[in-house]
Amino acid sequence: MDQAALSGQVVLITGAGTGIGAETALMFAQRGARVIAHYHQSAAGAQQVVRKIEADGGRALALQADLTSEVQAAQLVQRALARFDRLDVLVNNAGSVVERTSLENCSLELWRRAFDVNVTSAFLVTRAAIPALRAAQGCIINNLSLSVQTGGAGGAGPYAAAKGALQVMTRTLARELAPDVRVNAIMPGVIETPHHEQFSTPERMAEYRRQTPLGRNGTPREVASAIAFLASADAAFMSGALLDINGGRFLR
Ligand SMILES: NC(=O)c1ccc[n+]([C@@H]2O[C@H](COP(=O)([O-])OP(=O)(O)OC[C@H]3O[C@@H](n4cnc5c(N)ncnc54)[C@H](OP(=O)(O)O)[C@@H]3O)[C@@H](O)[C@H]2O)c1
Repeated sequence: MDQAALSGQVVLITGAGTGIGAETALMFAQRGARVIAHYHQSAAGAQQVVRKIEADGGRALALQADLTSEVQAAQLVQRALARFDRLDVLVNNAGSVVERTSLENCSLELWRRAFDVNVTSAFLVTRAAIPALRAAQGCIINNLSLSVQTGGAGGAGPYAAAKGALQVMTRTLARELAPDVRVNAIMPGVIETPHHEQFSTPERMAEYRRQTPLGRNGTPREVASAIAFLASADAAFMSGALLDINGGRFLR
């Protein structure tokens, strides 16, 4: 893809202080976009992303919000528009397993939290961003998970169910927002990020590697590439698509 493929575009990436979101912010900036790097708790990470972009001559802004809050999600979009006056791309990346549990032992509180963090957050930001995205003839990319296909056995059941809801939301939005806004999703397999430092043991990570035909887990940069592709003119005829990035671990 042309390195200037996203030149002049404004992108809002949620969860951009860490992992996949941080790498996506850097890649969009390298391709000419202006970046709003949202974070919740990773202030230092988001500031570091902004500093790197600015050091390379790009433009970026870090904004804090708890996206499980309707008010804060709406304010995030307002503050982004106040700075850059337009929005071309929304990457709904923020999400978390929250806590490993079987569904049998899952409390209602944990179930609700998984849905708040993984799908209600994306709904709230998307709803607030739609007028600006329509005006820009922009696009949305939602970060799902391979667990939508495989289920979340191993303690990620509430997370997988919430990501499944985000998959259906992707398809609904692709129809509702056409022809103004393209809406697509990525479905990463296991990607080496802080997520797994928190939720997966080294033994579990080694097992994931063994189960993957390409013989390794993925990198945040490999996921960022797929997101940047979906945002680019190279994907102009793609909407409602679900892109697998899993090293061959799951075949449709
Ligand atoms: N790593 C994988 O193997 C994998 C596979 C498939 C899908 N994914 C998805 O990829 C996305 C990024 O995950 P990652 O692997 O890069 O892990 P990560 O580094 O843990 O990133 C998760 C991000 O979600 C944000 N977040 C969590 N709760 C939030 C809340 N209440 N409000 C706003 N933001 C919140 C975090 O922000 P703060 O840190 O600022 O609090 C963090 O930046 C997630 O949606 C995850 O489900 C990851």
